[in-house]
Amino acid sequence: MQKNLTILAVESSCDDTGVAVIRGRQVLSNVIAGQEVHARYGGVVPELASRAHLQHMVPTFEAALEQAGVGVADLDGVAYTRGPGLHGSLLVGATFAKTWAWAHDLPSIPVHHMHAHILAHFLDPGPSPKLPFLCLTVSGGHTQIVQVNAPDQMTILGQTLDDAAGEAFDKLAKLIGLPYPGGPLIDRLATEGNPHAFEFAKPRVDGLDMSFSGLKTSVLNVLKKEMAADPSFLGDRTADIAASVQFAILNILMEKLERAVSSTGIREVAIAGGVSANRGLRARLAEKAETGEWAVHIPPMSYCTDNAAMIAIAGSMLLEAGLEGGLGLAPDPRLSF
Ligand code: KG4
Ligand code: ZN
Repeated sequence: MQKNLTILAVESSCDDTGVAVIRGRQVLSNVIAGQEVHARYGGVVPELASRAHLQHMVPTFEAALEQAGVGVADLDGVAYTRGPGLHGSLLVGATFAKTWAWAHDLPSIPVHHMHAHILAHFLDPGPSPKLPFLCLTVSGGHTQIVQVNAPDQMTILGQTLDDAAGEAFDKLAKLIGLPYPGGPLIDRLATEGNPHAFEFAKPRVDGLDMSFSGLKTSVLNVLKKEMAADPSFLGDRTADIAASVQFAILNILMEKLERAVSSTGIREVAIAGGVSANRGLRARLAEKAETGEWAVHIPPMSYCTDNAAMIAIAGSMLLEAGLEGGLGLAPDPRLSF
């Protein structure tokens, strides 16, 4: 990056209200307000999410500016998540960001949420991936293998045909009685269980696409059978099920990623999105780095799940490329890649 742009960014695509300030690649502040309200519903309730964003937005924004120690005069632009995401949630963040930018005569920069997950790799401390690189983006809504040729030139090589990997983690966690979001809980339980305790049916999908929905049926069948024989099965073997479920999800991801590396010849490999926080996935990639097969880029934990610093770095790169947006640009829940 040539210039040291100072960017304020707003992220509100789902259930986290995030505001960050960066200068160049350096994160000056990255404030996130989570929403506890959804836990008891077993998933994010869109209308409750938008209302919580309304409550959290101004205090989060004030905290981000204060922690960064910058004023309006220091800023070069305001980035925000335009999509994809929940419509009401996006609307709160985008309206706030665009209005504030307009009031202070600053450019507003619309950012694609999944591009931002990938571009988080360009934040300090680095080292950033060398172009071109492959990125496995795994979140609650997306699972894609992306070839990144430049910050604004990305191609999807393969993706899930049904559930996203994070969604699979959350649905399978629910099956074994864990609260939402279950991904991090499966991750934690898996460290205490045996990944080879149970075997689930493997999906057969051609090329670089993936499928996770069949896994749910397969896990359900195993649970039914075991519980018929022993009603206390679930309580006794939760860690083994969690470890086996995680192993099955990671096998699907790793097999496709390996295939993408061999078909493109690109050995620079990154991961991004909420599921990249998974310790099992990080370990599987670290093995590839240790054997020297791949140059692996694993984001710091704080940039894996939704945050506004990633929106800021994406906004900064777009602004440098002259890609600012107009005030009339509406949020788009299904913004295309
Ligand atoms: O990227 P993200 O924060 O939000 C979306 O844009 O979707 O991803 C959230 C997803 C959830 O499904 C959550 O369960 C999953 O990421 N997740 C994890 C872990 N941390 C978050 N899944 C597995 N292991 C984790 N440690
Ligand atoms: Zn995300």
